[in-house]
Amino acid sequence: MNCDRIARWYRWLEYASFGRALERRRLEYLAATADARRVLILGEGDGRFLAAFFRLSKYSVVDAVETSREMIRLALARAGMARRRVTFHHADARLFALGEGQYDLIVTHFFLDCFSTEESRCLISRISAAAAPRARWLISEFHQPYKGFARYWTASLIRVCYLFFRLTTGLETSQLPEYREALRANGFRRAHHQTERGGLLISELWEREWRGL
Ligand SMILES: C[S@@+](CC[C@H](N)C(=O)[O-])C[C@H]1O[C@@H](n2cnc3c(N)ncnc32)[C@H](O)[C@@H]1O
Repeated sequence: MNCDRIARWYRWLEYASFGRALERRRLEYLAATADARRVLILGEGDGRFLAAFFRLSKYSVVDAVETSREMIRLALARAGMARRRVTFHHADARLFALGEGQYDLIVTHFFLDCFSTEESRCLISRISAAAAPRARWLISEFHQPYKGFARYWTASLIRVCYLFFRLTTGLETSQLPEYREALRANGFRRAHHQTERGGLLISELWEREWRGL
């Protein structure tokens, strides 16, 4: 997936398609996580979450892994003076070497849906190894409700979104991954979640259960 071509328009395409709904999902648990000190953000995009996070969190240090140079440029510009608190790694998160047990907050907004279930499972296990024993994990995603009329129109909309990203960025996957089992298998439990647009969009806050002595 190469987002360089759409990076400058990404924000406007999003607002035109979903209004401020994705923004609300990203920021849903922002206040609850602003006390984190060592933060890992994967696929940050154009830096809107990062800028909001820095406005609230005065002492955090962030590592961000992102494959799009253009997204990184936009995110650094948006971070302003706080840019000294973020290190961007221009790398594929599937291959990037992460340290062990160091991050107390992981952030993946609309990122896991770029991967198949198998890829997301591998990613989650690698990221979990880099997470501290009591780490939290903040997630926003598209979501497919299982019941009711919503499952039909959400399925169609999700197909259109995947087609758009396939055509504009070369995204290879075409369906939402099942990532929750992998989070549970790595010691996380979902503490809070919130949906909107009939369940099409979801924010989740996962917490790691400490299995120390
Ligand atoms: C759908 S966009 C989401 C951007 C942003 N997080 C948001 O909330 O809108 C996915 C982002 O992940 C980045 N990305 C995709 N695959 C990646 C990978 N394997 N490693 C790191 N970043 C990746 C893309 O460049 C893009 O910025």
